[in-house]
Amino acid sequence: MAHKTEFLYLSEEDTVNAGVLDAEKCIDNAEEVFRLLSKGDYLMGGSNHNSHGLPIVFPKESPFPNMPVAGPDRRFVAMPAYLGGRFDVCGIKWYGSNAENKKKGLPRSVLTVNLNDKDTGEPIAFMSANLLSAARTGAVPGVAARHLANQDSEVITVLGCGQINRSCLRNIVTQLPHLKKIICFDIFETAADSYRDWAEKELGIGGIVEMDLEKAVREADVITAAASRVKPLYIKDEWLKEGVTLLITGPTQTDDSFWMSTKLIYDNVKLHEAYVEEAIAYGDKAGYYKGVIGGPVYTLIDAEKMPKLEDSTSIGDVILGEKPGRTDPKQRVTFMACGMAVFDVGLAYDLYQTAKEKKIGTTLKLWDNPRMG
Ligand SMILES: NC(=O)c1ccc[n+]([C@@H]2O[C@H](COP(=O)([O-])OP(=O)(O)OC[C@H]3O[C@@H](n4cnc5c(N)ncnc54)[C@H](O)[C@@H]3O)[C@@H](O)[C@H]2O)c1
Repeated sequence: MAHKTEFLYLSEEDTVNAGVLDAEKCIDNAEEVFRLLSKGDYLMGGSNHNSHGLPIVFPKESPFPNMPVAGPDRRFVAMPAYLGGRFDVCGIKWYGSNAENKKKGLPRSVLTVNLNDKDTGEPIAFMSANLLSAARTGAVPGVAARHLANQDSEVITVLGCGQINRSCLRNIVTQLPHLKKIICFDIFETAADSYRDWAEKELGIGGIVEMDLEKAVREADVITAAASRVKPLYIKDEWLKEGVTLLITGPTQTDDSFWMSTKLIYDNVKLHEAYVEEAIAYGDKAGYYKGVIGGPVYTLIDAEKMPKLEDSTSIGDVILGEKPGRTDPKQRVTFMACGMAVFDVGLAYDLYQTAKEKKIGTTLKLWDNPRMG
């Protein structure tokens, strides 16, 4: 019996035409994924179903001249997932990252997503995923702003003025109608300048550049932290005001007293449990913790200074009304997101559906009939 297999290819431009820059759509998509996460209708990598992904770890040196060696932001990572609900599909994000890319006029990482039939494994779609990945990353704090931030928030501070925080802000502003000032902080003033100009033009909200981190933080009702690892980002407890919502997307350090007093909501507690399992398997827990966003928190949990992960709250539980989120406008609430393949698969699926409806993209053939069938 002949079995032709075709799949849809979407270029970066195709994903734009399919709605990857439509922030509200991306937030609704991410919120739906959070609901599925809390119900448990998903699988990610590894036997615990919750691994962030599998990296190729490059050695510091190699006797083979062509073998890649470790370098700034240099890695390849495979991030597979099955997502249930109406998605009911498998997929994988696969990316390579290298700080040297920028010299070649390329983004730091180059990402693609595959969607596959959950039963046969046949490809359904293959797409450019730089914008997709940034969009899903930004949509996540967008969901958190919707559910956790004080709705009368007026001032937002951006810590780390790169591409990811552009996407975070694009999403967050759709949820906070009273925002009227953006404070831009980066270790490089030129990055903060161009971010402010972009935000004013793209989002229509006035911004200032503030090169003093303390001042930038003290005024904030909401903070979006997505700095790279060029220099550790350290925010002091005493700078964070009453009622602040701290949305963490990149590595962020603060005083133990803040971690221990803030209401901390995770993107998915099970992901963080998997990180701790990986740290134990790695053999050097403290060393592993240094490389992951949740490291400072896991250290305090191990020391019994913060509630165990199993007793903590995922944002999906808040969305489903099963656990409380913010309970007081004066509470300092922190949301921590580390990135999960389920969000790439969920958004890729909706882009694919829109592309099919609007006849966007290129249909490619895997085979008319598999020779090995
Ligand atoms: N949670 C997730 O799902 C997720 C997904 C993708 C990326 N990320 C993380 O988001 C972060 C930003 O990624 P990007 O692609 O925008 O990187 P980028 O290189 O485009 O921008 C990062 C910016 O942070 C600035 N920066 C570095 N150290 C800083 C510090 N101490 N204080 C203030 N600014 C500082 C840099 O100067 C740069 O402008 C990275 O840490 C990345 O790993 C998280």
